[in-house]
Amino acid sequence: MWKMITVVLTYLASALRIVADAAILLLKRRLKLYRPVQCCCQNRVRGKVVIVTGASSGIGFAIAHDLASKGAHVYLAGRNIKTGQDAVLKLHKKTGNPAIHFLYLDLQDFCSIHAFVKSFLKCENQLNALVNNAAVFHHPSGLTTDQIEITYQTNYLGVFLLTNLLQSVLKQSSNPRIVFVTSEAHKLVSVQDLVAFKPRQLSSLTTFSDYVKIYGLSKLALHLYSQHLVESLPGVYVGLADPGNVWTPIYRRSWRSWSLKHMLVRLQCYIFMRDAQEGAQSTIHFLNTPNPRSGQYINSFMVGEEKQPYDSSLVKRLVADSVFLTGLPRSSLPQAAVVTGVDGS
Ligand SMILES: NC(=O)c1ccc[n+]([C@@H]2O[C@H](COP(=O)([O-])OP(=O)(O)OC[C@H]3O[C@@H](n4cnc5c(N)ncnc54)[C@H](OP(=O)(O)O)[C@@H]3O)[C@@H](O)[C@H]2O)c1
Repeated sequence: MWKMITVVLTYLASALRIVADAAILLLKRRLKLYRPVQCCCQNRVRGKVVIVTGASSGIGFAIAHDLASKGAHVYLAGRNIKTGQDAVLKLHKKTGNPAIHFLYLDLQDFCSIHAFVKSFLKCENQLNALVNNAAVFHHPSGLTTDQIEITYQTNYLGVFLLTNLLQSVLKQSSNPRIVFVTSEAHKLVSVQDLVAFKPRQLSSLTTFSDYVKIYGLSKLALHLYSQHLVESLPGVYVGLADPGNVWTPIYRRSWRSWSLKHMLVRLQCYIFMRDAQEGAQSTIHFLNTPNPRSGQYINSFMVGEEKQPYDSSLVKRLVADSVFLTGLPRSSLPQAAVVTGVDGS
C-alpha cells in the first residue's frame, strides 16, 4: 500500500515540476526573455549546389527550407520517395525556388549510395556543400543487407561511403564544405568503446542506454572521420554541428507506451525540446559563416568548442576498417593503414 502511495506521489511531484517549468518557459517566451538560437550570417549559399541527406523531415527539412529560401540549388536525398517528393513540392510552394530536387538514397544499402552518386553526377558537375544529416536513433537491433549493424551503417559507414564518393566533385567546386550533423551523445562513449565495437556483429540492444550507446558510437566515428578529412582534404571545409535536443520524428520509437512515465517524458520533450528550425541553426551557421575553421565542432548554442585531437593511429585504423567494410578500393586507405594491413575484421 505504502509503496503504491510513494509511486503515485513521485509521479504527482514530477508532473507538478513539469507544469511549473513549462509555465516559467512560456512566461519567458511571452516576455521575450527566451531567445531561440538563430544564425545571423549573411547569405553565402545563393546559387550554390547543396545536398542535404534525410531532408524530408525534422532538422533536414528545416535546413533545406533555409537553403531554398536563400536561393541555393538543393538536392534532397532520402529513402522514402513519397515523403521526399512531398517535401520538394512544399519547398517549391513555400520559397518559390524551382531548383529543388529529390534523389533516392538509402544509407542502409551501399549499392543505393553508389547509384545516388551516379545520378547526382549526371545532373551536376559541382557540389559546394554536402550536409550529412540523415540518421536513426533507437532503431531495433539488426544487420543491413551489407551485413553491418543498422545504426552504425546509417549514421556512420553509409555517410563515410557517400562522402568518399563525392570527394572529387567537392574538391573541384568553389569554397566546398562538408557538414556532419552530430550529437552530444558522442561524448557519452569513449574511443576505446569504438575500438572494441564490432560492426558486423548483431548488437544486443535492450535498455534505452544501449540505444544511446550505439548512437553515440556512430556519432563519435563521424568525429574521428572528420579529423581524417581535415588532414586529407585541404581546401575542403569540414564541420560538425550539434543541433541540441529537438523534438522530431527521430524519437518515433522512444517512450511510445501509454504508461504514465512515458506520457510524462513525451510531454516534457514536447514542451522543452527545440523545434526543428532552431535545431537547424548550427548547420545553417556552418554553411554561411565567412571564415570557417575546418574540423570545428559547433555546439547547440553555435559556439565553437575546442577539443583534443584524437590519436592519429586510431583515426587511421577507423578509416582503414571503414574502407574495407564499405568495399572501397585499397587506394583510398591512409598510408599507415596500408603498411599495417588493416583487415576490418
Ligand atoms: N532530434 C534531436 O534531438 C537530435 C539531437 C542531436 C542530433 N540530432 C541529429 O540531427 C539529425 C537529424 O535528425 P532529426 O532529429 O531531424 O530526425 P528525423 O526527422 O528522423 O530525420 C532523420 C532523417 O534521416 C532519414 N534517414 C533515416 N535513415 C535513412 C537511410 N537509411 N537513408 C536515408 N535517409 C535516412 C530519415 O528518413 P525516414 O523518414 O525515411 O526515416 C529522416 O528524413 C540526425 O543526424 C540526428 O542524429 C538530432
